Amino acid sequence: MRQVTLGATGARISALVYGTMSFGGDADEAESARLYAACRDAGIDMFDCANIYNGGRAEEILGRLVAHERDAVLIASKVGMQPSGLSRRAIMQEAEASLRRLGTDRIDLYYLHAFRPETRIGEVLRALDDLVRQGRVVWLGVSNWAAWQIALALGRQAAEGLARFDVIQPMYNLVKRQAEVEILPLAADQGLAVLPYNPLGGGVLSGKYLEPGADRGRLDAMEIYARRYSAPWVPEAVRAFVTFCRENGHHPVTLANAWVMAHPAVTAPIIGARNVEQLRPALAAADFAMTPDLYRALCDLTPAPPPATDRLEERG
Ligand SMILES: NC(=O)c1ccc[n+]([C@@H]2O[C@H](COP(=O)([O-])OP(=O)(O)OC[C@H]3O[C@@H](n4cnc5c(N)ncnc54)[C@H](OP(=O)(O)O)[C@@H]3O)[C@@H](O)[C@H]2O)c1
Repeated sequence: MRQVTLGATGARISALVYGTMSFGGDADEAESARLYAACRDAGIDMFDCANIYNGGRAEEILGRLVAHERDAVLIASKVGMQPSGLSRRAIMQEAEASLRRLGTDRIDLYYLHAFRPETRIGEVLRALDDLVRQGRVVWLGVSNWAAWQIALALGRQAAEGLARFDVIQPMYNLVKRQAEVEILPLAADQGLAVLPYNPLGGGVLSGKYLEPGADRGRLDAMEIYARRYSAPWVPEAVRAFVTFCRENGHHPVTLANAWVMAHPAVTAPIIGARNVEQLRPALAAADFAMTPDLYRALCDLTPAPPPATDRLEERG
């Protein structure tokens, strides 16, 4: 698989990252092992995880799977969605617990999973800096923060000589394009790597929810996902996308991931699958030859979000 540069770290990673949110949940340990092996065979060398995924089981399973080749892969994990939040104490405890579950002495990329307004930002950034100085964390990232929050933190990290965020992990797919307005331009300007999650809209862009039924997947099982993709225009947009794919001979899962990859600010999407059969068309995105015409045609299928400022007339 092609390698890409992880922002200003200069490190090289595979052009797809695999997200392990299914490990120990939708995928039992045996299926997780098959998914891991399929990813490694395809050339994936970064695995995304979080302290909260399936109550810590995802980290435990990932830790066992990487143990025989720890230095060949990069492990990302996250802190901040658990109830204890992002106080210094919570960050230190959660980092130790993640390291224990992963069975490793370092997390290559450690993200804040959410913005937590109850803790002052200086406390959060200094705790992260300490983890980096202690060698327990290599690089820092942030997920689900607004652009202004990231920008404030970057300014503070630079001014105070603290380890900075090198990676952001926004939600981004053909039906969730908010990141285009400020987050992706900020990343391009600041040399941040961008590893987007939900590239298929949690499965929506496979088209399977266009057919009536129950137990079709995550949207039937998780209210939060059903709500996230409940905008009234989404089913029609997905239908147009799936029809476009059929008419042009593309698998929707391949094309949806390839569309995310094609944004110039995107480094590598984080793909997800509950089994190897689902994974195959996502892996195919790595070799997909996107053209400017195809990219524009896909962009035209869904509404672009309004710009960040209403006064753009002079820019033409
Ligand atoms: N930072 C965050 O807040 C955050 C949030 C979410 C995810 N993530 C990370 O990003 C990773 C990927 O996110 P995601 O899982 O939401 O990605 P996604 O690619 O949008 O959705 C993946 C899901 O779509 C369905 N799917 C995949 N391939 C399919 C196929 N061929 N046919 C039909 N359905 C298919 C499966 O769910 P079903 O079988 O249930 O339909 C699969 O779990 C996660 O594992 C996690 O590491 C981070």
